Amino acid sequence: VREISVTGASGTSRLMLGASISDLREFCGTEKAIIVTDRVVHELHGRSFPPWPVVEIGIGEISKVGQTVEVLYGAFLEAGLDRSSMVIGIGGGIVCDVAGFAAATYLRGVSFGFVPTTLLAQVDAAVGGKNGINFMGYKNMIGTFSQPRFVLCDHDFLATLPQEELRNGFAEVIKQAAIGDGELFAYIEKESSKALSLDREVIEEIVGASLAVKVRIVIADEREKGERRKLNFGHTLGHALEMTAHIRHGEAISIGMVAAARLSHRSGMLDSDGMDRIERLIERFGLPRRIAMNMDMVIDAMEKDKKREGNQIHFVLLRNIGSAEVVPVDIDELREVLNDLCEYR
Ligand SMILES: NC(=O)c1ccc[n+]([C@@H]2O[C@H](COP(=O)([O-])OP(=O)(O)OC[C@H]3O[C@@H](n4cnc5c(N)ncnc54)[C@H](O)[C@@H]3O)[C@@H](O)[C@H]2O)c1
Repeated sequence: VREISVTGASGTSRLMLGASISDLREFCGTEKAIIVTDRVVHELHGRSFPPWPVVEIGIGEISKVGQTVEVLYGAFLEAGLDRSSMVIGIGGGIVCDVAGFAAATYLRGVSFGFVPTTLLAQVDAAVGGKNGINFMGYKNMIGTFSQPRFVLCDHDFLATLPQEELRNGFAEVIKQAAIGDGELFAYIEKESSKALSLDREVIEEIVGASLAVKVRIVIADEREKGERRKLNFGHTLGHALEMTAHIRHGEAISIGMVAAARLSHRSGMLDSDGMDRIERLIERFGLPRRIAMNMDMVIDAMEKDKKREGNQIHFVLLRNIGSAEVVPVDIDELREVLNDLCEYR
């Protein structure tokens, strides 16, 4: 087991990598706790949960809403949770976001910890201290900055994860390597087959190193004033594609990363070898590089996302693999790149 600790304004978070859920109870060191999970994770893995009360939430973004939080408050009340108790979220990013938000606001904050069960949650959603819910159809509109007491990463959970969820997670892994760890990027290139077959040693290495990138950035900028924006590599276009083309998050940010890599190259930052490596790795993990898109709608969505300033949109670009910068990009330049990525014109 490898331990990393993150200290933020709201306390210190212990990240346990390669741990086992069987150690959860001892690790929590609390008598009273409640587990928040979703239906799928409960069905597949409920047998390994410690004997605490369990409350289930529904599946999908539609469950990441205020109504679900109220259901959780009700369950906390019924379980007699007090400030010395703990809320444990066991599930993907949605469970972590909702459970963390409910815990951080119940009684003005009870402690919480996560056992992330998707690759995306292990490398990204469970770490960093942002918790939140969607509101009126807008993602993550309501939320808190509050660090989980611990994050216990048990990689055995990944064995039951559907392929498309795994790919989703790898898209974030590639992003984190691209913006913050060139060595990790090269390692993933070398070990992609083993990563895809969930070789334990390789997964531990990849999750640990990509988590470390996020932790480094979050520590530098817990409240998202500057450095943390680098985590949005691929996301500026990605979010717009998610909204307009209705594709999965991992797919959308993959196309977003390809676009950002091309913009980086055009603006004289990333060399052509770096740009090709990004595209090849995305393809290697079965993620898309192109899409049929309505360019006007996509650009419109990006502008609505408040990333526009005059005739420019802020993008996270790469100087080289492992180092990123936030740079304004001309909309005309963006149009040209998008034109190349459009599957049908
Ligand atoms: N707070 C943050 O910093 C942060 C960062 C990134 C993403 N997020 C959020 O995370 C969410 C996405 O997370 P996600 O991709 O984990 O999605 P998710 O939580 O919806 O999980 C995906 C699916 O996999 C299932 N699942 C979970 N674990 C499983 C397992 N071990 N075996 C089989 N099936 C399993 C779930 O039931 C669900 O149907 C988004 O809402 C996003 O906004 C938050």
